[in-house]
Amino acid sequence: MNFSWAVCRCFFYKNIFIPELGHVEFHGRQQFVKTYLEGLRKLDAENVIADIEAEINRRRNINGITYQNYLVIKEKYKPLNSQLFNKETLFSLPPTIQGVTECIDGVFNFPLMSLDQCGLLVEEIKHFKQANLPHQRPNSMNKNGILFTEIGLDDLIRSIVDAVQPLSQEKFPALVGSTGFDSFKAFTVEYATEASADQDLATHFDNAEVTLNIPLFTEDQEGNELIFQTKRGFRPQEMEIGRAILHAGSQQHGVLPITSGSRCNLIIWMRSSEIRNRECPMCKQSPDLEEVEFGKGDGFKIWKGETKCARVGTKSM
Ligand SMILES: [Fe+2]
Ligand SMILES: [Zn+2]
Repeated sequence: MNFSWAVCRCFFYKNIFIPELGHVEFHGRQQFVKTYLEGLRKLDAENVIADIEAEINRRRNINGITYQNYLVIKEKYKPLNSQLFNKETLFSLPPTIQGVTECIDGVFNFPLMSLDQCGLLVEEIKHFKQANLPHQRPNSMNKNGILFTEIGLDDLIRSIVDAVQPLSQEKFPALVGSTGFDSFKAFTVEYATEASADQDLATHFDNAEVTLNIPLFTEDQEGNELIFQTKRGFRPQEMEIGRAILHAGSQQHGVLPITSGSRCNLIIWMRSSEIRNRECPMCKQSPDLEEVEFGKGDGFKIWKGETKCARVGTKSM
């Protein structure tokens, strides 16, 4: 395996989410003020710039901190449902996925996890949060939630990715590639009515070739529909505990405001280095790669000591 995992450098200046401005690009204060002059009129530009700089700093450190948190959690965390952490005792998923429906063009819905399995995961996440150990927010758009890599649940996520890979291959052949999903980013999103919680999610696309979204928990939830862009405008996708929703990461989607109750979903951004190495899904260009020291970065690969031609036509790595 003669490669290093990498990120595309656009991660350090592009697609930075500012609620009032949407996704912005930042190449220093002069460019920023000039580009967003209109939107900044009603805002405190200094505050906005400080937020952006903090976000860029967060992005620069994300992989190292994930690794540090993983080590601390591994040492100190006492799992509640230890079977979730062991490759041999993980819960089993359907060997073949059946009952797939496509209610919205390009959005597939099917049963994947049982209510008991969802319950086990929800319990574990709650237990983890009570342990008060260091952990990061899942991404720049969601305040609450956890990263599965940090708490040591990568094997569990891998088993879920493996279970849905054949279906992904069938529905999105151009997004999976011959090597399959060789990395992923998995996290929870949590919505509630409290001011400290996330209540909605602006329309966006994901840093994923294919996204898997599994509703794990709801309580008296009203509003908060997951919506997808279609040729005829946005359409809501029904959510049911354990029923997975599969869509191309590039399909625009968002979440409407929650009006009561709460919910928690597991999101898996499934990535194929073969596909994203050709075009970064975030800047839509040939990626400008930077090696990461820890983890799998954003799922890009830098190949070493081998000419590109030597890999053409090979299927395994
Ligand atoms: Fe998303
Ligand atoms: Zn990029």
